[in-house]
Amino acid sequence: MLIQDRSKPLIVDLGDERTYELVFSGLVRLPDAMRRAGLRPGPVLIITDTHVASHYRSRVDALLKGDGWDPLILTLPAGEATKSPKHLQAIYDAALAWQIDRKTPILALGGGVIGDLAGFAAGTLLRGLPFVQVPTSLIAQVDSAIGGKTGINHEVGKNLIGVFHQPRLVFIDTHLLFTLPRREWHSGLAEVVKHALIKDEAFFAWMESEWPRILARHPEVVPDLVYRAASIKVRVVSRDEKEAGERMLLNFGHTFGHALEKSLGYGTFTHGEAVTLGMLAAVHMSRRFHRQVDLPRAEAILRQIPLPPVPSSLGLPVVREAMLADKKKEGSQLRFILLRNIGQAYVTADVKGHDVDAALAFALGRP
Ligand code: GLY
Repeated sequence: MLIQDRSKPLIVDLGDERTYELVFSGLVRLPDAMRRAGLRPGPVLIITDTHVASHYRSRVDALLKGDGWDPLILTLPAGEATKSPKHLQAIYDAALAWQIDRKTPILALGGGVIGDLAGFAAGTLLRGLPFVQVPTSLIAQVDSAIGGKTGINHEVGKNLIGVFHQPRLVFIDTHLLFTLPRREWHSGLAEVVKHALIKDEAFFAWMESEWPRILARHPEVVPDLVYRAASIKVRVVSRDEKEAGERMLLNFGHTFGHALEKSLGYGTFTHGEAVTLGMLAAVHMSRRFHRQVDLPRAEAILRQIPLPPVPSSLGLPVVREAMLADKKKEGSQLRFILLRNIGQAYVTADVKGHDVDAALAFALGRP
């Protein structure tokens, strides 16, 4: 049983009196929460996608109009390809044709793609507009909507153009998760498991006890799952806004995951699916360095996140090369996030090629 008072907002506290709330409530409370965040009714530019719009566009529109807001809604195609210069330009064009001023908020109603793109537009238009996140996917509610990372992709790679621009408010209605496609639910679970593995053994134990209901998205477990996972992200970004140290731990499984995503061809695996394999590799590597790491325990959960089959043609050297190429581009060392135990992660660069190969072989089920 997780003991947590979900009526309390979580607070991201970045120091220097820069704080904002994560409000957990039904959509109907969104206008109230916006007022509490210091936003006064007027024009608001809402960015959403076709999938989310079909479920929630008219409700959000009516709720905001009912409180005196004047929403302009821009509905973009659903999918990763929307995180592009072309769609950013579409937001700039719509905003500037509409004569926004520096008080006009941009509200992201969607998952990680919409949140990152709308946040980048908010961070750059008129040198920064107020930004509201209303995340509609599991990944966005527990991870990407929190902490101010925004950006778009470039053909050279993902998330290469962006700024830190913190939202004024993150409004989380966990009911919205019930219209999420199943595959997206499972992908989001990867990030939830990640939060538990790096920071919170008690949460991991709770997930083990509730795993069948979590996989099945049972309404009795979803709110606790989201609140606890989001609280971990809040703690981490409050201590390390710009990823100078602790925030790097959120990249657990991502060094392998990004390389797999790229080697398989973007779109074959979702980000969460690739990170699931990445975490299997990272836990395996952790166990090589720390005998106390309970690999079977972590594996029992991770192997139950449904994944598409990995093509047998995917060679380990290809993945290793993709890993190295990424880091070369960033001009940084190849770093790994490892576990000393479940709930205790740390960063290291002290890893050898044969450790990487063994970890990848384990994750991909290659003898
Ligand atoms: N999703 C990782 C981070 O926000 O730092």
